[in-house]
Amino acid sequence: MHAVITALPGDGIGPEVVAEGMRVLRAVGTRFGHTFEIREALIGGCAIDATGTALPDETLHLCRESDAVLLGAVGGPKWDNPEAPVRPEQGLLGIRKALGLFANLRPVTLHPRLIAASPLRPERLQGVDLLVVRELTGGIYFGEKGRDTTMDGGESAYDECVYTSAEIERIVRVAATLARNRRKKLTSVDKANVLETSRLWRSVTTRLMRAEFPDVQIEHMLVDACAMHLIRRPMDFDVIVTENMFGDILTDEASMLAGSMGMLPSASLGAPGNNGRGTQMGLYEPIHGSAPDIAGKGIANPLATILSVALLLRHSLGLEDEARAVETAVWRTLEEGIITGDIAMPGERSATTTEVGAAVAAWIEREE
Ligand code: NAI
Ligand code: MG
Repeated sequence: MHAVITALPGDGIGPEVVAEGMRVLRAVGTRFGHTFEIREALIGGCAIDATGTALPDETLHLCRESDAVLLGAVGGPKWDNPEAPVRPEQGLLGIRKALGLFANLRPVTLHPRLIAASPLRPERLQGVDLLVVRELTGGIYFGEKGRDTTMDGGESAYDECVYTSAEIERIVRVAATLARNRRKKLTSVDKANVLETSRLWRSVTTRLMRAEFPDVQIEHMLVDACAMHLIRRPMDFDVIVTENMFGDILTDEASMLAGSMGMLPSASLGAPGNNGRGTQMGLYEPIHGSAPDIAGKGIANPLATILSVALLLRHSLGLEDEARAVETAVWRTLEEGIITGDIAMPGERSATTTEVGAAVAAWIEREE
């Protein structure tokens, strides 16, 4: 296969971890006989410095011409002034919107040696393997918002939450399709006891699942109960699907199951078939930020980015064997004990970002 990937390293540790992601991508190309044409472009703070905007037209153009995008992170103290007219995060929001990326996927799996890094008790974490699918372009974050004054001269503000049945159907379809290829269980999270949008969410989901996914078990859960069960019995979840704001909160909660930010990948996907391959155009990135406190030191954990490369191979290129090869190589590297300081035990030797990337690439290139 020939595929075009746009790499957006961004700021802080972004370039360090994306370099390792690209190294792993090249290793996959070598082992499986694919050519990945990687084009680099600017986003975030570095783009502001060079062009005055966080998302230059040229970057967006390159992304539109690609099969997938691999992003590091944006932002840092240099651009933190809240008064500044342009901010690095505008690059991220802009690109998600411009590419129509409505489905955000965050898988949480735990290698045994990471269980110790989690704040939860080890016995609660055995067998955790869940995937949160968050709706990314609708709901209260995108509804009408405004300010007003009250009769007595006070202030008021409002944020409208709107969902259409079409928006609900397309995200539930993505999640149910993923569940079908996993343990065939979908938990739809809403607040149907209070919110009208949630009542629509629940009825559309029920109807769609009955019509199109009779083989996938559907469970409805209120968001407050879900927040509790994620901690109490995380191993019971397979795929969770939810609207934008609930998903924002639940994904952060779920990420803490894994202990380190340096381990968790994410994917943001557009409509199936939108890239001419029958798969999904997507943007792949670690969930962590630019980590200015460790940037430039060569000690950032590249595994979240490398696992994002696995998601890229799976969801945008349809290369499941290659995706598994990356995940297996990450697992082996952890077992070998080649790990960065964020997941090392006290007294254990910490490897550098490059050593970890090279170890993963070496496992991939080793034919078995
Ligand atoms: P952060 O995720 O960058 O860092 C939080 C803590 O985790 C830090 O102590 C950092 O050293 C550590 N950490 C993060 N990634 C790591 C890795 N791969 N290996 C080892 N340790 C790692 O979040 P923070 O500090 O709140 O934000 C820093 C900057 O990043 C801010 O400018 C923020 O706006 C931006 N940010 C960007 C995001 C993105 O590009 N998607 C997401 C979150 C924050
Ligand atoms: Mg968040």
